[in-house]
Amino acid sequence: MLQTFSALVVTGGSSGLGKSFIEHVGKLHPNCRIFNLSRRPPERTVPDLILRHWPCDLADRAQTTRVCEELVATLNREVPTGRVLLINNSGFGTYGSFPEPNLARHLEMLDVNMRAPLHLTAALLPLFRVRGGAVINIASTAAFQPTAHMATYGATKAFLLHWSLALSEELRGSGIQVLAVCPGPTTTEFFRAAGLAGAAADAIGGQTPEEVVATSFRALAAGRTLVVSGWKNKVLVALASKLPKALAARLAARVIARFRRLPRTSQP
Ligand SMILES: NC(=O)c1ccc[n+]([C@@H]2O[C@H](COP(=O)([O-])OP(=O)(O)OC[C@H]3O[C@@H](n4cnc5c(N)ncnc54)[C@H](OP(=O)(O)O)[C@@H]3O)[C@@H](O)[C@H]2O)c1
Repeated sequence: MLQTFSALVVTGGSSGLGKSFIEHVGKLHPNCRIFNLSRRPPERTVPDLILRHWPCDLADRAQTTRVCEELVATLNREVPTGRVLLINNSGFGTYGSFPEPNLARHLEMLDVNMRAPLHLTAALLPLFRVRGGAVINIASTAAFQPTAHMATYGATKAFLLHWSLALSEELRGSGIQVLAVCPGPTTTEFFRAAGLAGAAADAIGGQTPEEVVATSFRALAAGRTLVVSGWKNKVLVALASKLPKALAARLAARVIARFRRLPRTSQP
């Protein structure tokens, strides 16, 4: 299935899931041109990777607009044929009572977790309509219930999940596939960046990024529009979806409140 794509555009390839997506594609489809957008460059762990890094802060609207324009022009010039795969992966959360650590960080989260995926998808859609393409949106199991102590994060992921599923319906029959991936706790830098103990994902039986990436590509190959990664997460999501929203919010708050917070000086 990966061989059908001539180019991969991924956000957040400098770490965690994004890094693992790049490594997976680089190993299985070494001819694929890879374009990464993040602030830090990805490590080149796979030899002969055809990778271009665009330094971009997706919380900065002007930068995002400029990079989207450059990206489309570059794809048309340098990879003029073949399907393109877009993976909207960049994202972060914060832990604490709103608006801790500060309101600006929450507003940046809206830009990175929601606005940037919309912007990139809109920029690439005309190209997808001509050449074919697919979008993978990295949402979260946090999308299935309100997440007190990570209130803004869970809400951004609920937005991304619902937007992704709706877009998929709008594009049904067009040949453009849209897949929402919902990982649960995964062993990446996510927890530390959110101000939680780095080993939090391990402690609650998290998956590895490689497991989430393999699940994502299997679901894309099967033509699915939504996949929850890992059987434990599937069970939790099924339960949360059946509960009244207010009760799901109460239970999730109790679980998340137990996460150990890092000393404030360690937080970004
Ligand atoms: N780990 C989990 O438990 C988990 C669970 C469910 C969903 N997710 C989702 O999975 C996705 C990937 O996260 P991860 O777990 O791999 O965490 P991670 O290791 O912290 O990676 C986050 C990535 O997002 C990028 N990013 C953050 N802010 C950015 C900005 N302003 N501009 C551009 N890129 C930015 C980072 O790149 P730079 O710092 O180089 O900019 C980094 O590559 C996120 O959307 C996250 O919400 C994670």
